[in-house]
Formats: sequence, structure tokens, C-alpha cells
Amino acid sequence: MVSTPKFLAAFVGLSLVGAAVLEERAPDPCAAIAGKKWVAPRDVRACYSSIKVDEMIKSNITEVINKTLAFHASTNYQIKAPQPFADDVHEDVLATLAKIKQKRYRSDYDLHIDLSRALKRLNDGHCVWINRCYLRLSQAAFTNFLPTPMSLLTAPDGTQSVHISPEAFTVAKAEFPDQIQFWQDSLLGPLKGKLESLSGAKVLLINGRPPFNAVNDNAQITGSYQSFATRQNSFFSSYQAAAAGWTYLMGNFAQQSLPLSDIAILTIQRINHTLPEIVILPYRSRIGSSVKPFTDVKSYLANNCVAVAGTNGEDIYSSSFASIIPAERPVEKFQQQAPVSAQIARKHLIDVTLDTSPLSDVVLPPVLVPGLPAAPGSRNAAQFYLLNDGKTGVLALGSFSDSDYFPFLDSLLKGLVSLKSQGATQLVIDVTNNGGGFICAAHWLHRIIIGPKSTTLIVKQIVNNNADPDNQLLYNPLQWNDANNQQFAANEDWLQPPVEKIINGRRDAFSQRLGQECQPAGFPSNVPEVALFDPKKVVIVSNGRCASSCSLFSITMSKHEGVKTVVVGGKKDTQQQYCGIVGGQSTDFSTIDTEIKTTHLKNNTLAPPDLCVFLPFAVLFRLQLPILAILVLSSHLAVTPAKSGPPFDFASSCVIE
Ligand SMILES: *[C@@H]1O[C@H](CO)[C@@H](O)[C@H](O)[C@H]1NC(C)=O
Ligand SMILES: *[C@@H]1O[C@H](CO)[C@@H](O)[C@H](O)[C@H]1NC(C)=O
Ligand SMILES: *[C@@H]1O[C@H](CO)[C@@H](O)[C@H](O)[C@H]1NC(C)=O
Ligand SMILES: *[C@@H]1O[C@H](CO)[C@@H](O)[C@H](O)[C@H]1NC(C)=O
Repeated sequence: MVSTPKFLAAFVGLSLVGAAVLEERAPDPCAAIAGKKWVAPRDVRACYSSIKVDEMIKSNITEVINKTLAFHASTNYQIKAPQPFADDVHEDVLATLAKIKQKRYRSDYDLHIDLSRALKRLNDGHCVWINRCYLRLSQAAFTNFLPTPMSLLTAPDGTQSVHISPEAFTVAKAEFPDQIQFWQDSLLGPLKGKLESLSGAKVLLINGRPPFNAVNDNAQITGSYQSFATRQNSFFSSYQAAAAGWTYLMGNFAQQSLPLSDIAILTIQRINHTLPEIVILPYRSRIGSSVKPFTDVKSYLANNCVAVAGTNGEDIYSSSFASIIPAERPVEKFQQQAPVSAQIARKHLIDVTLDTSPLSDVVLPPVLVPGLPAAPGSRNAAQFYLLNDGKTGVLALGSFSDSDYFPFLDSLLKGLVSLKSQGATQLVIDVTNNGGGFICAAHWLHRIIIGPKSTTLIVKQIVNNNADPDNQLLYNPLQWNDANNQQFAANEDWLQPPVEKIINGRRDAFSQRLGQECQPAGFPSNVPEVALFDPKKVVIVSNGRCASSCSLFSITMSKHEGVKTVVVGGKKDTQQQYCGIVGGQSTDFSTIDTEIKTTHLKNNTLAPPDLCVFLPFAVLFRLQLPILAILVLSSHLAVTPAKSGPPFDFASSCVIE
């Protein structure tokens, strides 16, 4: 590293003037980072910023987003959400899109940031724009790291302060063995080589401002959750029960999916020290394993930015359909945990949050992993424990998705039954960072804990229709039940008549209210006839980052069964919420495009064109109210005029009362 003043000038100067300066110096900025594993974020930014906007592609993207948003169930609600989220969700995304269309951008990277943030401001976790040049579904092209994740700690007297996470060095040493020396050497004066001594330090200022200024700035751009408090929490490190084992989440301060920051200037007070010290830590950017080799901007674009199998949809009855590799289909990669096969994903409805933060593969330090043996039934992201008191069972449930469906549901039952047989009379369910998964798994977990409730189910004979003889499409009437849980007939246009609504002054339309589709086919046959736990003896715990199917589960358990909810962490003076996103059924552009192509509607003017270059974005296809059996489907479907259902019930979402 160069001497201090030059080092600072380089970083600070560049972060102000951006890539323009670099373009003069480096004729091909992508060549400068080619073949390297770790690079400076400013160099990644220079490469990204050298990608010029292609006006044809830009118009392609805006048209696809515009027309696909018609399938997004909550666009009009998000112009100004009802209380309690009126201050948190107010984005007129179509108006923003029109502005983006008019605006001239210096680079494709700048355009990407505007598009991505416009959709993130919807704060619904389901409507996400992902551009393969910069972000992939499972990871960023380059991920920006610092070795100092942050934690919000509460002292015994109740005062809260931001700290460098006590486990920071342990995590960094294990995750970044090939970069830790760089950070050791970048510390100056007496702190050089003493990165470990920063762990646990109290953070007085971040870049010269109180720490919560940085926390709140991040909450404005992180997206995914309606509640401001939950978005604050994304700044900090956290954990998750994941399919691959207990996982550490670095938080948005120490991990960025775009090369946004070059350095962090921290004013800290180390443990057992009284005087504040200033440390300057450079971010380092690590190339993702899915980035294809490149030598310059041209090969970066050609190898990494083009449409891939699965970007667009297909006519599923065409002869070429079988040729698509399931793992390449974007929707298969949305799963938060063990990848779900295309076949299982098609059969079992999925509701997952789509966070542009990559899935973490950082291992939780052993000292933070539960020391108790996992009880029978533990599997992937669902781990069962019996606490030493002999009466408290714990289900750590990091996800509602799994590599297989029925074995997952069976193991949830097996785990709870085994806790009971070991003496558990009360249950803690930890859904920290649970981004959802199979909708019917959420329904199932509710059903087996609470016991049977009266339902009427009539399974009608399935009759083929011509467009979709194998009943594969989302819009096939045979996929759905009406509000009385009667399956629609094959020839019934269940989108007619539309239910018209005026939402925030805009006309919108939905389908009629739909019934539930989890029972009986979506449940294992061995459904217990009695409740496994008394709802008064069940507590749901999380950091608020519980989304989609996890929201459906938590809201139903809380509002309908009276189960207690607890939020761990979060700023004391900010209203915390126990889950994040009104549930629904998520889908993506490729799937919608498949519906359109299979029904031969692609040349209708309302149909979005194909995307020529980039991976598509995802939308919330269906709203789901906090009663598992009541669903609403946005029916701009099949490119007919749209319809509506019961009002989008923001008010009954996850606010702690
Ligand atoms: C977008 O690109 C696709 C594939 O090249 C093309 O078929 C479509 O017409 C384009 N649409 C627009 C609006 O440019
Ligand atoms: C979106 O589509 C509508 C209807 O075709 C059109 O009126 C509007 O101008 C489009 N907006 C953008 C930003 O392309
Ligand atoms: C701080 O001081 C206490 C008491 O001397 C000691 O036990 C502890 O290990 C010190 N912690 C650090 C991080 O130096
Ligand atoms: C366009 O739509 C018409 C009417 O549905 C249909 O006959 C025609 O085959 C379609 N063309 C293409 C290229 O899909």
C-alpha cells in the first residue's frame, strides 16, 4: 500500500468523480481486473462503467419491465401503501420507469443501478431486476467485502450501540484466508497487523457520521422488506439455518453486491481501550465463481451479459422444450436453499423472497453454532433441538424450501413428534432470515402444530383443455379452486368477470378470490388428527427477516392462533415487525413468458417482447391474505383485461400489536 495521504486521496477522489478519471488512464478497464480473484472496487466500477448503454437494449428492457409489471399484483398499492407502511412504501414504479426511459446514462452500470433501485423501492422482496452483467441469482459478479461486519449490541442497562461484531476476525480469517493479510497490512501505525483487536470494538462514527446514519442510508436502498426497522437490520450480521449447515450472514455493511464503496473510515473504541481511534479499511471485491473468463470489456460482455437458456419463456408443447436444462431456468435458482428441481417447483407452489444479496456460504463460527444434538427429523434448513430444561423444543427453520417436497414435510412432522416424545411441551420456532419456500409447507406446519380445522374439499375430475392438455400452466383453470375450494372447470374462464378496483387513483383489476390448493394433494397422507402443541405454548422468534411463505406462516400463527412473536435485535426506538413481506405466490418473467408462448399470445400487443440480453426480473404473481386459505390472483393474465379480488390487506400484516 502507498503512504497514507496518497492512499486516501486515491479512494476519496475516485469515489467522488467515479469512472471518468479511470477511463483516461486505462483504455480497457476490464482488462485491468481480468483473471484476478481479488480487486479494488474502483477497478470493478471502472470496468462496469465502461459498458456503454445500448439504446436498443435499453428500450427492450424498459418495454419488458413495463409489460411484465402488469402481472405484478401490487404495483398500484405500492404507489402509497396503506398504514402501517405509508411512510415505508411509496413508489410509482411505472412513473419512474418512464423517467428512466427518457434519462440519458453515462454507462449501462448507472442505468442498472437506477432500474434496480426503482424496483427495490417497492420494498416487497418479490419484484426484482437482476442484470447478469452485475448480479446473478445466486451471487454477484463481484462481491464487495470488508472484514468487519457490524452488530447492534445492547448493554445490561439497556443502552444500545453499534459494534464491530465480536466474531468478526474469526469469520474473516476463515472466509478470506487469501485476503486477510491485505487488510492486516492496510491498518496503519500501531494497529498494523492487529485486525483481530478490532473485533467487538464500539463504533462511534462511520465515515465521520453517527453509525445509524449509515444504517439508515442502507435501509433506503436495500429493498426487500416493507418495514424500515427490518431494512435497518439488514446492515448487521446475522445467522441462518441453511441447507448446507449453519451459515453466517455478513450484513450489508460488510458485504455489497455491487462495488459501491471503496473504504470505510471508522472511529472506534477497542475493548479495554478508553481513547477513540480512527481506522481506514479498504473494501475488496471478490470475483464470483459463476463469472466466465474474460480479457477485456468485449469478452466480459460476450461471456457474461448475454441471455442464457431460461432467460425467456418457451412454448412447453414445442418440440424443443425438453432441451432446456432445469438447473438453468431462473425460477429454479430463486430458491433460497437446496435447489428445487424443475419438476418439483412446477408441482408445488413457491413463495420466496428474491433478495439481490447473494446467498451466503460463509460458515457460522463453531462457537455460535448450537451445542445441542440435533433431534430426529432434522433435515437441511430445518433443525430440531430439545433444550436442557427437557420441556422446550426448538425448531430452527431457515427456509420453507428444500430439495424435495414430501420428504421435507414428513421430516417436519417427525421432528415435532420426536420433540414431544422426548418431553417437549412448549415450542420455539426460530425463523430468522427465512425467505420462504413452498407455500403448502407453511400451510402444513401450521396444520400439524395447531391440529385439524374444518375445511371442505372437493376434488373434481380433471378434464384436459386444448391449450394445456397436461395441466402445466399457471393460468389453467384446473390449477385453481374457487373461494369455496371447488376446482374450476377446464372451460371456465375464472378471470371473468374481473373484480375492478381503484387503488391510489389507478384502475386495477384482479381475479375472483381463490381457494386453497394445499389439501389434499399437497399434504402427506399421515396427517395427525390432534394438535401437537398448544398455541399458547408456541413462540415464533426472528430478526424480522421472515418473508413470503414464512410471513404466511407467522401471520397465520399469530393472528389466527394467538401464538406469541418475538423479534430479536433491532433499534429500540423503531417499531419492529415479526415478518417482512405480505405473502403471495412469486413467479418470474421466464415463467410468464412460457404462459404467453404456450397459449400462442406472444404477438398480442400486451405481451412483453423477449429479452435480448439480460436475465429477467421477478414479480409477485398472487397476493395472499394472512389466512392460508384465501388467495388473490392478479389477472392481467393471458393478456386479457385485468381483474381484482379482496383488498390487499397491508394492515393485517406483521405489525406487532
Ligand atoms: C428485444 O429483444 C428481442 C430479442 O432480440 C426482440 O425479439 C424484441 O423485439 C426486442 N424488443 C424491443 C422492444 O426492442
Ligand atoms: C408502458 O406501457 C404503456 C401501455 O402500453 C404505455 O402507455 C407506457 O408509455 C409505457 N411506459 C413505458 C415507460 O414504457
Ligand atoms: C479486557 O480486559 C479483561 C480484564 O483484564 C480481560 O479479561 C479481557 O480478555 C480483555 N479483552 C480483550 C479483548 O483484550
Ligand atoms: C399471431 O396471432 C394470430 C392470432 O391469434 C395467430 O393466428 C398467428 O399465428 C400469431 N402469429 C405468431 C407469429 O404467433
